[in-house]
Amino acid sequence: MSEPLPAPLLPPADHDVYDGRRIRWGFLGAGTIAGQMAKAIADVPGNEVVAVAARDASRAAAFAQQWNVPRSYGDYLSVCEDSQVDIVYVNTTHPHHHRQALMVLDSGKHVLVEHPLTLNATQATQVLHAARDRGLFSMEAMWMRTQPLIREVERLVGEGAIGDIVRVGVDFPVAFDYEPGYRLFDRSNGGGALVELGAYGATFAWLLLGQPETVQVIGSLAPTGVDRVVSMQWGYSSGATASVFCTSQASGPRRAVVMGRTGWITVEPDFARAPDRAIVHIDGAREQHLSMPSRRYQHQVEEVERCLRAGVLESPLVPHTDSIGILEVLDAVRSELGVRYPQE
Ligand SMILES: NC(=O)c1ccc[n+]([C@@H]2O[C@H](COP(=O)([O-])OP(=O)(O)OC[C@H]3O[C@@H](n4cnc5c(N)ncnc54)[C@H](OP(=O)(O)O)[C@@H]3O)[C@@H](O)[C@H]2O)c1
Repeated sequence: MSEPLPAPLLPPADHDVYDGRRIRWGFLGAGTIAGQMAKAIADVPGNEVVAVAARDASRAAAFAQQWNVPRSYGDYLSVCEDSQVDIVYVNTTHPHHHRQALMVLDSGKHVLVEHPLTLNATQATQVLHAARDRGLFSMEAMWMRTQPLIREVERLVGEGAIGDIVRVGVDFPVAFDYEPGYRLFDRSNGGGALVELGAYGATFAWLLLGQPETVQVIGSLAPTGVDRVVSMQWGYSSGATASVFCTSQASGPRRAVVMGRTGWITVEPDFARAPDRAIVHIDGAREQHLSMPSRRYQHQVEEVERCLRAGVLESPLVPHTDSIGILEVLDAVRSELGVRYPQE
């Protein structure tokens, strides 16, 4: 069970588009997640961050100094137009992803966009189609999909190790103190538990069961009008169901359970963020412990690098149709809950 993972299905590359030189990253934004990705990129040989932009030039400069980035800018366009940048990583808050990703693509650069890719499926389609039309690589930074343990669970389920799936259950609770100005509660800054936290559970269920045929939801909102608790039930014609729960109001286990007709798998301790352990029960009796260490964001960096060197426009691990399809489900759920962003 702990054998090396099969390589993703990329077209054979008999050459490296970059001829062995490093992939040069530019950053739009210098916030929390940007620091974690800067560290990951520094830790993956063959990659380097060469430019960073923030709205405030002094913050960009401080980030550049901390992460040893040679150039910093006080405006985003300068990173897009930097001739030494190969790919731009958009790591600002979600309402800005759509416009900024299009700006990157208009400058002829490949793009990795933090999740959610955009606020809704219509915007996501525009970004991904624009990339394809320009012959550029694009990917949503749904890093969970690049984790070795998640890929292994996908493989085991796909090979029928626990039989046909009957249920997928995923919980993603994170407790945040209610602060109307904090971005998770701020409607003008893409607030809400669903698009940020719920996207992980939705992606996990989608990975194993695909697009749901029916979706039901119960939820509640924060005083600012963004969702704070969301409980979804997805239905499939096979009879399978998925329960996808998220909240920004409580903490608890972030566990995923996959039940099949002949066994079940639990992913621990946190299915969404760098999971490294799973327990596989087969025939209700045999119990196998699966351990696959995670190098956190490095797997995502490696996947982007592999795609760029091979010259493909899309990662088979994070397909465009899934990014759009999952956002379509989240759009419908938000609509049911009455959550709409001013930028839509
Ligand atoms: N992959 C993951 O594990 C992970 C984890 C957390 C978040 N995320 C995603 O990453 C993105 C950024 O999250 P974060 O936690 O890094 O956020 P953050 O630190 O609060 O903000 C990131 C950057 O967004 C820009 N920004 C923030 N508020 C803004 C506003 N009101 N108007 C204009 N720009 C604003 C700023 O860019 P400047 O630096 O230019 O000022 C800021 O540095 C989100 O889409 C989130 O869903 C991913």
